[in-house]
Amino acid sequence: MGFTGLFLIIFLIVHAGINSCIFLNDGGETFNAVAHFMSHNWIMRFVEIGLFVGIILHIVQGLMLVRQNAAARPVQYAVSKANKNSAWYSRSMGLLGTLILLFLVMHLSHFYVGTKVALYSGDQPHNLYEEMVHVFSNVWVVILYMIGLIALFWHLIHGFQSAFQTFGLNHKRYSPIIKTAGWVYTIVIITAFALMPVSMYLGWIS
Ligand code: HEM
Repeated sequence: MGFTGLFLIIFLIVHAGINSCIFLNDGGETFNAVAHFMSHNWIMRFVEIGLFVGIILHIVQGLMLVRQNAAARPVQYAVSKANKNSAWYSRSMGLLGTLILLFLVMHLSHFYVGTKVALYSGDQPHNLYEEMVHVFSNVWVVILYMIGLIALFWHLIHGFQSAFQTFGLNHKRYSPIIKTAGWVYTIVIITAFALMPVSMYLGWIS
């Protein structure tokens, strides 16, 4: 779970980095060029298969963990001090992950399906930037993206440090550094993603 989690953490850096080209305010020229390169490059197509395998494995491992935890304690504690022992988001990883999955289904239907249909039917190069402008012109879609990103925020806050802990990196000196790195990473990534729909909806970029 730590390994697939770290892989997805790295994917989000690449994804946010490429998408941030829209902030160049060049009508999406750079962004479309990079997206076109990524979708027509066989190495990247291969990585993409790895990405979907990674997502599915991460979900399956998460479900197994929930089952194992339930089996390990069939009878609930009479007195539970969960609030004192752990943060709410670390106890809600399954719920947060489910919200992210719902977000992903919506997200892929917005951007992934159309690109692939255009790629395999040999249509005109798909203008992903125009697609983004269109998708994010609907305020309800923007709100749904914000909800998905809030869920991803808390999932990453716990997931980042948890992944390192799984690798045995649990040390008095290093753990606070990893925790801080997790917060910095999450704030930067989520802010970058959130600014995309918001700036398009408000017309800050064109
Ligand atoms: C909110 C800002 C986001 C925008 C504007 C955005 C935009 C896009 C676009 C345009 C594509 C299609 C790329 C292509 O086919 O070449 C894409 C694909 C994808 N996005 Fe996002 N994305 C955002 C956030 C996210 C988040 C938060 C996740 C994960 C939780 C995510 C996961 C994916 C995945 C798995 C794919 C398909 C794989 C790929 O083509 O790289 N995206 N996104």
